[in-house]
Amino acid sequence: MAEELNVISSTNKEEVYQSLIPQIKALISGEEDLIANLANISAALKTAFDHLWIGFYMVKGDELVLGPFQGPIACTRIRKGKGVCGTVWQTGTTEIVPDVAAFPGHIACSSDSRSEIVVPIKSQAGVVIGVLDIDSSHLDTFNAIDQKYLEDLMGAIQA
Ligand code: SME
Repeated sequence: MAEELNVISSTNKEEVYQSLIPQIKALISGEEDLIANLANISAALKTAFDHLWIGFYMVKGDELVLGPFQGPIACTRIRKGKGVCGTVWQTGTTEIVPDVAAFPGHIACSSDSRSEIVVPIKSQAGVVIGVLDIDSSHLDTFNAIDQKYLEDLMGAIQA
């Protein structure tokens, strides 16, 4: 198992993802415990990008419950259809929010959050079992490049 992350220094985020994603996949492929892998994924993404908040909410009964994360403390439970995370749980598709103030029902865990991307994690049967949530303290941080690499990474999680 790779125990050191080699994060390249580049202002081109596609280059950062291209170097980073294979390393994270190698890291999680040697471990079957879901929580351990989610913890390392959130740490690796935080190290590479230093966004405000990076973490997971996992489906438990009729709510999403806070999972492993890096960043300030966050709300612990989100209902289906509520906020960006609950919307992604309901639709099963990634949401890119360039301005959280313009997203109806956005849940502000931190007043510093300005933009956000939420990517679903699905079981092999295609059922949403959780979401990856990344918050930025800047407007319009995320785009189709983040979506492409983060969706690919979420597809590598064995749930
Ligand atoms: N903003 C999210 C809630 C989670 S926190 O940002 C960590 C939402 O609207 O679902």
